Amino acid sequence: MLTIKALGHACYTLNDGQFNLIIDPWLSDNPDAACSPDDLTVDAVLVTHGHHDHLGDAIPLSRRLGCPIIGVAELCNYCQRQGCEVAPMQIGGARDYPFGRIKLTPALHGSAIMGEQMLEYTGLAAGFVVTMGSHTIYHAGDTGLFGDMALIGRERPLDVAILPIGDNYTMGPADALQAVSLLQPRLVIPTHCHAFPLIRQDTDQFVQQCQAQGVPAVYLAPGESHEL
Ligand code: NI
Ligand code: MN
Repeated sequence: MLTIKALGHACYTLNDGQFNLIIDPWLSDNPDAACSPDDLTVDAVLVTHGHHDHLGDAIPLSRRLGCPIIGVAELCNYCQRQGCEVAPMQIGGARDYPFGRIKLTPALHGSAIMGEQMLEYTGLAAGFVVTMGSHTIYHAGDTGLFGDMALIGRERPLDVAILPIGDNYTMGPADALQAVSLLQPRLVIPTHCHAFPLIRQDTDQFVQQCQAQGVPAVYLAPGESHEL
């Protein structure tokens, strides 16, 4: 069994009963956060890109728990300089970890840490295909639609695709429906569509549109879980 839990915005945990992974842990200053990062115990922190609403609490979480940050090498280099253990990868590469297999996918998006007086490039934005036991989950990160999504589900069929639908910074609902056609997952979870007004979408409508395309979908509000 694998439990996918939404913690707010693009943050999800994947828990197979033995290992708990977290993706994009933006919690402490996220108005939608379901918990504090201090309440979490995880085995690895996966970060799709350097923007604050994804990197979020990854560095303090990794430091407190002594667990690795997994992402592209440039982002990992930054995190390592902040005292974190890291597992640098690049897009297209896969690696077997004790908790499962992680493969990095392309994402059409930027990636930098942006402060008032600085901007640090953190490599290319990515998505993750995570295989734990018999389950394969795709978290697209922040991305626009791209045709090569058709290739992502080919190596291993996707049990779940977590897709941004918030528009402006990522795909909107119409493009996300095209992504569903390309990916052909068994279940769609829309994400990146509530934490601030600019990206807010009608998730009920999106879920119905997926179902009209023949693909089940479920929106997980912060704190809600889905079991596979
Ligand atoms: Ni972003
Ligand atoms: Mn984002």
